[in-house]
This record gives sequence, structure tokens and C-alpha cells, in this order.
Amino acid sequence: MKKAYTTHEHAYRKLKARGQGSWNAQCVVRGRDARSPVDREIRHFLADMLRQPWSPRRGRAIELGCGTGPILRWLHGKGFTGMGIDVSRTAIAMARTQSRGLGLRFVQGDVCAPRCRRHGVFDLVVDGHCLHCVLAPRDRKAFLENARSLLRPGGVLIVLSMCAPVDRRTLARVIPGQKLVGRLLYVPWEGAHAYEQSRLLGNTWHPPTRHVAAWSSILKEVEAAGFSVQRCLHDRPWGDDPFGTLCLAATPNPLFTVSRTTGAVAR
Ligand SMILES: C[S@@+](CC[C@H](N)C(=O)[O-])C[C@H]1O[C@@H](n2cnc3c(N)ncnc32)[C@H](O)[C@@H]1O
Repeated sequence: MKKAYTTHEHAYRKLKARGQGSWNAQCVVRGRDARSPVDREIRHFLADMLRQPWSPRRGRAIELGCGTGPILRWLHGKGFTGMGIDVSRTAIAMARTQSRGLGLRFVQGDVCAPRCRRHGVFDLVVDGHCLHCVLAPRDRKAFLENARSLLRPGGVLIVLSMCAPVDRRTLARVIPGQKLVGRLLYVPWEGAHAYEQSRLLGNTWHPPTRHVAAWSSILKEVEAAGFSVQRCLHDRPWGDDPFGTLCLAATPNPLFTVSRTTGAVAR
């Protein structure tokens, strides 16, 4: 069975055919700053984070789920070099075209796969709204383990995610047909039975597309993966956006093991 997050390739083919340049441009949710490829609140969060004493000011950044690369290009404008990874081949081709001459690298790949770790270490690892596309608990764990191993000690992980609570009335009005069952958001789609965790809802197959957990539970998930959360911004649903949003910045805890015999700590 295919991973549901691979359906993004279809979305990017449509987006490209319509002449749209970024994920935001095709977003049906218009409550926020849909005209800009990077939401205003994301830009503010990142700018604020970069001013903190624990944050790198410049260096190497990697964006997990970079799409066409708008967040990485924004970071490039602030002094970062680096690379983006996305599961969609079309998104990566568009990112390369849009980033010509900037020295950024874009690679097609799955950020939940062990191979993701071969790209080296970075000062900044940015979840480009990707973790909320990763649905199975084992894949979310793999995502965070990969993020941890891609960070140099003292580096910073940024998580940008949808979260609960969800305004169900706005959801039904703005994106009718989508159904929230537990933490997963399902979309009616032909051929969905070929995707992991798909469900027959009514008479139609629905693949899951988003993981929408409470912000506090995402926070705990990040902490359980070996990070200390340094800054966290949580916003409730507003305007035409039925979802809450979460921006967090976290630093990796030092890796250490305690010897069973001597009690010595090795870092
Ligand atoms: C909501 S879009 C945001 C894209 C981009 N960061 C932006 O801000 O325009 C999430 C992206 O994550 C990518 N993605 C989802 N799961 C992935 C995975 N397991 N590995 C790599 N990319 C993934 C999707 O293809 C999609 O481009």
C-alpha cells in the first residue's frame, strides 16, 4: 500500500498546470495570508526566533517537505544556505526553477526514510508544514528521529503544524466533503483504497491527508523525540481557517548514556 503523503504529487501537477507557484497559492483555506507563499505569522515567528540567543543567526538549513521552496528562499534572504527535500518530484522541479542562482539544493525524497540522514548536519531543520502530512505514528517518530540526526548540537528544529481545536462548522463550509475522524482529516478521492489508512466513509473511499492533534500533544511528541521546546506559538482557528496553528522552536537535548556498572555519563 502507498503512503497517503505521496498524493501530494497529484496536487503539485494540478498546481503547476494552473500556473500557481506555491502550496499557499492553491490553498482553499483563505483565513490567513494566502497571497504570500509564506504566511505572515510564519515569517514573524521565524524572524523572532532568529533573534533569540539560542538560535543560529546564519548557517545551513534544511527544509523537510519544502514543496516549491518558499520558506527556504525566505531563510536564504536571512543569510542561510542549504537544501530542501520533498516527496513530490514536480514540487522539486519547480523549486529548482524558482531558486535558480541562489545556490540552494533540492532533492526528491521521503523525510521519514532512513536515507534522509545522509544529507549531513544543519544549523536549522525546518518542518515546512510537513509533519502534519505524516500520519502513521511510526512515520511521525521516524520524521522526528531524522530531524534530530540532521541537527548539529546547538542547532534548532522548527515545527510548523496544523493543530486542534478544529472549527467544524468552518471546516464544513470552507472544505465540504472533508471529514475529521479522531486526529485524521480524510478527503474523498477515487482510488483512495490504494493508500494506507484509507477509510470507506459513506460509499466513498477517503485517504487521510492531515494529522490534526492538540498543540500540547504535538509538543509532547517533539519532547519525547529528545528536544527541549524553547518557543511555542499556538493560534486558535480564525477567519476562514478551520484549523489551529502551531509554530515551535526546539533544541536537541544532549545525547548521553549512563554506564550500568560505573554510572559514568558518556556524551
Ligand atoms: C503543506 S505542503 C507545504 C510545502 C512548502 N513547505 C510550502 O510552504 O510551500 C507540505 C509538503 O510536505 C511534503 N511532504 C509530505 N510528506 C512528505 C514526506 N514523507 N517526505 C517528503 N515530503 C513530504 C508534500 O509533498 C508537500 O510539499
